[in-house]
Amino acid sequence: MNDKPLRGKTALITGASKGLGRAMALALAEAGAHLALAARNLDQLQQTAAAARHFGVEADVFEADVTDESQVTRLAQAALARFDKIQILINNAGINIRKPLIDFNLAEWRRVLDTSVTGAFLICHAFVPHMKGQGYGRILNLSSTMGHVAIPGRTAYCASKTALLGLTRALALELAPEAITVNAISPGLIGTEMNLPILQNPELKQQFLSRIPLGRMGKVEEIGALARFLCAEAAGYITGTDILIDGGWCAQ
Ligand SMILES: NC(=O)c1ccc[n+]([C@@H]2O[C@H](COP(=O)([O-])OP(=O)(O)OC[C@H]3O[C@@H](n4cnc5c(N)ncnc54)[C@H](OP(=O)(O)O)[C@@H]3O)[C@@H](O)[C@H]2O)c1
Repeated sequence: MNDKPLRGKTALITGASKGLGRAMALALAEAGAHLALAARNLDQLQQTAAAARHFGVEADVFEADVTDESQVTRLAQAALARFDKIQILINNAGINIRKPLIDFNLAEWRRVLDTSVTGAFLICHAFVPHMKGQGYGRILNLSSTMGHVAIPGRTAYCASKTALLGLTRALALELAPEAITVNAISPGLIGTEMNLPILQNPELKQQFLSRIPLGRMGKVEEIGALARFLCAEAAGYITGTDILIDGGWCAQ
């Protein structure tokens, strides 16, 4: 078995400063990929890059807010100048605001959708032209179980994650002739900062755990392993789809 299936490839990962983005960065680095790491927090990005370099790959950091078109344009220019070619895009940056719809203001609603959906659009818009013609490409979009099912108080988040599934399917069809696959990953509950409101509330955490057939939260490394597989040559016939990694939440 090839232990460096991504050797010679370069991946751009948004939201790589912590959580799932960092875990996917390290999984891809272990598989041999060079990394362009983007987020707003440069210090945390540097920590991800330093950890990735232990695997002997090149890793560089780029401060960028994915909701801002000019920042994404600058990110693409800088990342392509640094790495020349990028074959893998992971649209991972995302936020969640949890409250009833009537308590949202428009700015909050837009912030959730702009980060997940418009951010993925802007990143693809900036990088896809450079990915064409390479005969190999992978785009992963981080959706969620909340793109498939819902719970109360998640209107913006559910809307954003469902929209990402549509973007994934449509872009997969557009890019299939270029051998660029486009897929989504839909995690269930994973123990990252995004879920602190659940993790820090024992009663709420127990409520969530009781609804997960496997009886536990997912591990960030499990998301990393799935991303690594989907980015590799071995996953070349998977496109336009979505993989739930949720301990069985959506099977109920
Ligand atoms: N954890 C879960 O249980 C879970 C489940 C399903 C789906 N997901 C999805 O997986 C992705 C990662 O989640 P996570 O749990 O790792 O969350 P997290 O720990 O809160 O990390 C979110 C990442 O997104 C970045 N980010 C947020 N807004 C950004 C912006 N405007 N521009 C650039 N980067 C931005 C953050 O970096 P900066 O703050 O440094 O910019 C951070 O690196 C999200 O899309 C989330 O919706 C997570």
